[in-house]
Amino acid sequence: MNMAIPTTLTAMAVDVLTTADGRAKADKSRAYARVWATARENGGSIALGNSTPPDHPARPDQPELLNPRDVPKRKPGSPAGRIALLHAVAHIELNAVDLHWDIIARFAHIQMPMGFYDDWVKAADDEAKHFGLMCDCLESMGSFYGALPAHDGMWRAAEDTALDFQGRLAIVPMVLEARGLDVTPKMIELFEKAGDTAAVDSLNIIYTEEVSHVAYGSKWFNFGCGRENSDPKEMFHALVRRYFKSTLKPPFNEEKRADAGIPPDFYWPLTEGPSDPLSAKTKG
Ligand SMILES: [Fe+2]
Ligand SMILES: [Fe+2]
Repeated sequence: MNMAIPTTLTAMAVDVLTTADGRAKADKSRAYARVWATARENGGSIALGNSTPPDHPARPDQPELLNPRDVPKRKPGSPAGRIALLHAVAHIELNAVDLHWDIIARFAHIQMPMGFYDDWVKAADDEAKHFGLMCDCLESMGSFYGALPAHDGMWRAAEDTALDFQGRLAIVPMVLEARGLDVTPKMIELFEKAGDTAAVDSLNIIYTEEVSHVAYGSKWFNFGCGRENSDPKEMFHALVRRYFKSTLKPPFNEEKRADAGIPPDFYWPLTEGPSDPLSAKTKG
């Protein structure tokens, strides 16, 4: 790739966010992650800078973005259904690339340890790899990212929490990415049944690496709560109720959520409406 490398981390973030083409966005994400990691390994650093991220990241003309309600339902058993599933994952991964660079740039004014940036740069690198893996799978099946409509729901979570750092950590890694841990095993099973080993291998990589993204979320959320001397569980419940438009849906992947540092009493009470926060306890 032949490109001028921005000199600050927030400028790198803005460059990724303002790149529309999916593969080009992913390439930049991976390249800047290497630049950052190399500087850190050599004991150096790259200034954060103060470049302002766009309200909305640049995206390719296709896929068409629809209201989540209007995205056609898919029959998961058929080849077309499997393509739709991989297309949906590719879309989530591309959103995730933007979301991780966005948290870096949008909240750069909040003083955080260097490890915070290490984690989200690493996550943005992983997501770019995941997007590439999904694109490769789609292309090997005769499709491509952009061939089907997708939903615009994920960026709304970013907009809703654009002014609330702890809210962003609660919603994006600890609700949305944690949801990925819940649903991915079933998806892997479906591709195993279909004998699609390339998709199974790719989804297994995604599944393994997503645990660390959720863990980064809970680590820095807890850090922020500790700094404000607020109770993490109560804060998590309050923020999810404020910014997440629905209740959380079981079944949960309790084991992987535990690996990521999210205990059951964080999410079970949120399966109920706001008026009845404690009744989920009786469900175990
Ligand atoms: Fe991912
Ligand atoms: Fe992720």
